Amino acid sequence: MANQPAKFSPRVFSGIQPSGQLHLGNYLGAIKRWVTMQEEDFETLFCVVDLHAITVWQDPDHLTHAIRELTAALIASGISPEKSILFNQSMVHEHAELAWIFNCVARVGWMDRMTQWKDKAGKNAEKQSLGLYAYPALMAADILIYHATHVPVGDDQKQHVELTRDIAAKFNHDYKVDFFPMTTPVIEGPGMRVMNLRDGTRKMSKSGESDMERINMTDDAETIARKFKRSRTDAEPLPSEAAGLKDRPEAKNLVDIYSALADVGVDQVLAEYGGQGWGTFKPALAELAVSKIAPISDEMARMMADPGEIDNQLRKGAARASAIAAPILARTYEIVGLVR
Ligand code: TYM
Repeated sequence: MANQPAKFSPRVFSGIQPSGQLHLGNYLGAIKRWVTMQEEDFETLFCVVDLHAITVWQDPDHLTHAIRELTAALIASGISPEKSILFNQSMVHEHAELAWIFNCVARVGWMDRMTQWKDKAGKNAEKQSLGLYAYPALMAADILIYHATHVPVGDDQKQHVELTRDIAAKFNHDYKVDFFPMTTPVIEGPGMRVMNLRDGTRKMSKSGESDMERINMTDDAETIARKFKRSRTDAEPLPSEAAGLKDRPEAKNLVDIYSALADVGVDQVLAEYGGQGWGTFKPALAELAVSKIAPISDEMARMMADPGEIDNQLRKGAARASAIAAPILARTYEIVGLVR
C-alpha cells in the first residue's frame, strides 16, 4: 500500500475462470486466500470471469453450468456474498468497455511477451481467437475498473498483473493524469504454485491430459486418497529440513500442499514427518485434504440444487459492482475525450 497515493482505498479484486475442473491449485493459490483477505481491512470483489472463459470454445450449456458451479464453490469455500461483492463478469458491462480502451493503450509487443499466451497458443497462434491474444487487456480492465489496489493470484498470473501496471502507467502518462492505481499482486505462501501430481515440474491445471494429475474440488475421499497414493515421488524418505527438498520437485510439491492446507510452515511439517516414508505421509496428506475439501464439495452439491438462488446472488453482486465501476468508466471516457 505504501506506493499508492492516499486516494486509492485498499480494495481487492480477483477472478477465476469457469472452465474445466476447479482444482486444488485454484483453491490454495487463490480462493483460500480470498477468504482470508475478506476478513481483513479491504473491500473485496471476487469475479467469475466468464468472458475470459470464451476466449477458447465453451459449450453454451456447459458454460452456464460451470458459472453456477464455480459460484457455489466460492460460497462453499467461505466467500460471503454479503461481506464481499461476488458476481460474474459479463453482468457488469463496464469490464468489456474498459477493455476496449485498454486494447488501444496496450502494445502488440507487450501481448507477444505473455508466457501464458505463448504456452497456450504454441505453434498454432494463427488459429487462436483474437480474444485469447487480447485476454490480458481484459484482465487489466477487470482490476482497474474498480481501482483495485491488491490482486491475490497464484504465481502463474504474476506477469498479467505486471502488465496491468504497465497499462495503468501508460494510460496515466499518455493522458497526463494520476487516475489508475499501480496494483500490487499478492503472491505469498506455500500454495502459490501447486504442481502436477504426475510431474512436479509442471503446474496443476484445469486442462491437463490425465485426471490423475490434479485433485478436483469435487473428488470424493476415495479418489483423493488414490490420486495421492499414486502421485509420483522419489525413493528417499522425507527430509527433516526444507533445504532437503531442493531438486526433489515432487516431494516439495506434496510437502507444500500439506503446509498450505494445514496452515503451518514447511519446517513444521518436516519436523513432524522428517525421516518418514511416503507410505506414512501420503495417507496423512490425503486425510488432511479430504477434511478440507469434502465439506466444500458437499455444500456445492447442496447449492446446485437451487440454481435460481445462485443467479440471484450473482445479480445482487453485479449491481454492487456496477455501482463502483460505472463512475470510473464515465471518468475514463471523459479523460479520453469521448463526448457523453
Ligand atoms: P485461472 O482461472 O486460471 O485460475 C484462478 C486462480 O487460481 C490460480 N492457480 C493456481 N495457483 C497455484 N497453483 C496452481 N497450479 C494454480 N493454477 C491456477 C491462478 O493463479 C488464479 O489466481 N486470468 C486469470 C483469471 C482472471 C483474473 C482477473 C485474476 C481474469 N481477470 C483479474 C485476477 C485478477 C485466470 O485465468 O485464472
